[in-house]
Amino acid sequence: MTIRTLLITAVAALSLAAGVAIAASYPEAPIIYDKPVKGVIFSHKTHAEKGLACDMCHNHLFEQQAKKAQQNVDFVMDSLYKGKYCGACHNGSLAFASNTRCATCHIGVKGEERYKNGGKTDKKGH
Ligand code: HEC
Ligand code: HEC
Ligand code: HEC
Repeated sequence: MTIRTLLITAVAALSLAAGVAIAASYPEAPIIYDKPVKGVIFSHKTHAEKGLACDMCHNHLFEQQAKKAQQNVDFVMDSLYKGKYCGACHNGSLAFASNTRCATCHIGVKGEERYKNGGKTDKKGH
């Protein structure tokens, strides 16, 4: 092997390892909050696809533990409007504002059921 091919192989191996590590390091399934209200969705996948780095959220906004934030009494809209939690970005400049598009975050109880059923609506009850 020449130095060149060795380098190319090394870079390829590295990026492969990094790709696998990123895919495996956050949960694929969305986190759905249920306190104080049910059915608020956060998806790592859609946020990662926007190119947001882990530490944009995991340095001071959120811990790496699903639904930890909802244990805090201030995990409410008022905090978001003041730029806390999701509101650090959902402020109308980095991402759509927290006082708009309610239903994009609030998928509700029916929305949560759809996720649990793998994207299908349960027709039995209708
Ligand atoms: C846009 C914000 C955001 C970004 C970017 C982000 N996360 Fe998260 N992450 C969250 C939120 C919100 C939670 C849930 C925390 C909570 O509910 O208190 C979470 C939770 C987690 C958890 C815990 C999951 C569980 O089931 O307990 C892990 C692990 C994690 N993130 C890893 C990552 C990694 C690795 C990256 C980068 C590839 C990343 N996150 C990028 C917002 C983000
Ligand atoms: C680090 C910045 C950042 C934080 C923190 C953040 N978001 Fe986002 N979010 C974005 C960006 C950027 C987009 C895509 C741009 C847009 O649609 O305005 C987005 C899009 C979304 C969407 C639409 C796409 C989808 O996933 O369906 C939802 C819903 C959403 N965010 C919910 C949340 C919730 C809930 C939280 C808090 C738990 C949160 N976000 C925290 C940056 C952030
Ligand atoms: C960026 C995502 C996002 C958007 C947009 C959003 N919310 Fe929320 N909302 C949350 C989160 C996160 C919580 C706290 C977790 C929970 O209650 O499950 C919450 C909680 C709430 C609560 C209960 C706590 C409180 O503040 O009283 C109400 C009511 C509410 N939202 C109404 C709204 C309305 C109305 C809109 C649109 C004008 C809206 N939300 C838009 C993410 C969002």
